[in-house]
Amino acid sequence: MSSKPFRIGFIGVGGIALSHLRALKRIAESVGGIEIVAAADINPKAIEVAKKEFGLQHAYLGLDGYREMLKKHPDLDGVDVCTPNAFHGEHAIATLEAGLAAMIEKPMARSVAECIAMNAAAKKAGKELVVGFQWRWHAESRYIRRQVEEGLLGDIVYCRVQALRRRGIPNWGTFTQKDKNGGGPMIDMGVHLLELAVYLMGTGIPQPIAVSGQIWRYLGDKPDETENMWPNWDHGVYDVEDLAVGHVRFKGGASLVIEASYAAHIPEDTNDVQLMGTKGGAIWSRGEVYTDQNGFQVNTKPAFLKKTDIWDEKLRHFIEVARGERENQSSGVEGLAVQKILNGVYDSAAAGREMEL
Ligand SMILES: NC(=O)c1ccc[n+]([C@@H]2O[C@H](COP(=O)([O-])OP(=O)(O)OC[C@H]3O[C@@H](n4cnc5c(N)ncnc54)[C@H](O)[C@@H]3O)[C@@H](O)[C@H]2O)c1
Repeated sequence: MSSKPFRIGFIGVGGIALSHLRALKRIAESVGGIEIVAAADINPKAIEVAKKEFGLQHAYLGLDGYREMLKKHPDLDGVDVCTPNAFHGEHAIATLEAGLAAMIEKPMARSVAECIAMNAAAKKAGKELVVGFQWRWHAESRYIRRQVEEGLLGDIVYCRVQALRRRGIPNWGTFTQKDKNGGGPMIDMGVHLLELAVYLMGTGIPQPIAVSGQIWRYLGDKPDETENMWPNWDHGVYDVEDLAVGHVRFKGGASLVIEASYAAHIPEDTNDVQLMGTKGGAIWSRGEVYTDQNGFQVNTKPAFLKKTDIWDEKLRHFIEVARGERENQSSGVEGLAVQKILNGVYDSAAAGREMEL
């Protein structure tokens, strides 16, 4: 562990940044201290909250505020990018070009081209780019991944991924606008379960080679007439899908199916990954592994699992990677593989045919 505090900067200190800041507070002692040195945001109110609640030292406002921040604080240990998807590429690349390690919130970006540019900037700068995927840090994820690594499931041949809300159309932010968000539920929610699926499939980054997708819009662009948790979304600006479905083929023969929706007519919200292998299977939400043992079909679950806070582990991982103490287990290379699937679904839906990647 380092004896020096980790000096961090933020670009964007809105909703999700607050989850990061709370996690930093919790883990501060265990990583040798944290200093919230600087933050850039276009909203003075967001800056005020960060100053008042988290001891933010220096603030930079305006669209170019982040450039000034990067110039004035070359001694930061890392920058956490928590702006809307439309700015992920611009802010991560500027951070890397300033010679600083960057963590970017999910999804990595809006497009594959942006992800490629971000990875190129990281390579050129020789600095770490961490994609802030989080479900891999869950206790059940750790258990299932280890069983896959040890070969208990054999070869994973099929993966079923669901990121479905019965009715959860965001009534804030830019999550329902294609140009700003890159898409709807597939890129916003599907990305979470997809990063988990890709992680659970085992060591090595699964390489998608073809994607076939379809999307539908039937509800979000109409006035809200139903009691639901986030009422009165702005249907006038809604131009993303309500439901997206994708089928992915990977190099090596494995296949994956993903369903993502803000508004699916289902009994309850479902977020899950199911693996089927040649020797065994697993369901993430149950934390169970299914195998044959000595003539019996057996369902296995650990008697004890150390619970982990995904936010604490996500921030700890970034700090240790930025310090060079740990291998990057959520890199831009993996982010790119995930992005190819997300955008592949949209591209295939638009083209009306399977897309080879
Ligand atoms: N990991 C998760 O579970 C999770 C959950 C929610 C959101 N997110 C991701 O986090 C990101 C931010 O989402 P959010 O919910 O915090 O949104 P938000 O609107 O609450 O916060 C975004 C902040 O960025 C600021 N901002 C916008 N444009 C900017 C610019 N050009 N320069 C500087 N600051 C700018 C806004 O003023 C705001 O304070 C998105 O990419 C989203 O997908 C992740």
